[in-house]
Amino acid sequence: MDQNAKKQAVAKAAIEYVEADSIVGVGTGSTVNFFIEELGKIKHKIEGAVSSSEASTERLKALGIEVFELNEVSNLSVYIDGADEVTEHKHMIKGGGAALTREKIVAGAATTFVCIVDESKRVPVLGSFPLPVEVIPMARSFVARELVKLGGDPEYRQGVVTDNGNVILDVHNLEILNPRELEQKINNIPGVVTNGIFALRGADIVLSATDSGVETFK
Ligand code: A5P
Repeated sequence: MDQNAKKQAVAKAAIEYVEADSIVGVGTGSTVNFFIEELGKIKHKIEGAVSSSEASTERLKALGIEVFELNEVSNLSVYIDGADEVTEHKHMIKGGGAALTREKIVAGAATTFVCIVDESKRVPVLGSFPLPVEVIPMARSFVARELVKLGGDPEYRQGVVTDNGNVILDVHNLEILNPRELEQKINNIPGVVTNGIFALRGADIVLSATDSGVETFK
C-alpha cells in the first residue's frame, strides 16, 4: 500500500469518531485533506466544522460543509488532525504545515482528539522532525537565541507567514525526552505564540495506517 492509500484508509477510519448532528474540529495537512473528502460524503449527517486553517476552511467550504468560528461553538466533541511525529504516549510534533497555533486551540477546545497518521509518523522519541515554533515577527532573533540556549538549532522558515501573521522557526537537533516540560519552557519565551509539541494536551486516540490495516491506540 502506498502512503496516499494509507492516508486515505486512516481518514476513512476516522469517520467512525464523528457524531451525528455534531460540529467537527478539523485539522490541517495532506492526511486531513483525505478526511475532509470523507466528511464531504456524510455532510448531511453533521452540522458543520470548525477549521484549524484557511487551507482546510477553503476545502470544507468547497464541499458544501458549513464552517463555524470557534467562538460560536460551545461543544466540540471531536478534533481530527494529522501529525508530523507521534509517540506511544500519544505526544506529537505538529506544525509542518505552519498551522500549529490554530490546531492547538481547536484541539484544546475538543473533548476528544483523534490523531490520524500513517505508520511512518510513529517514533520512539520526538525530535527528528524539526520542531516548528510560531513567533511574533519582531521577536524572531531573540527567540532563536533562547532556543539555542535550550540546545536546539533554529532555522527561519523563509517566505512563510502563518494564518495569524507570524513567522516560523524550525528547531533542529532536539532530542525531546520530556515533551511536557519542553512544551512549557518554549511557550514561556516572550515572543513565542506556541510551539509544535502537543504533549500537555496530547491525542486521546491515535489511528495509524499500516500495510495490514488501521491500528488504534488509546
Ligand atoms: C499542519 O500544521 C501540521 O500540524 C499537520 O497536521 C502535520 O504536518 C501533518 O501533515 P500531513 O498529514 O500532511 O503529514
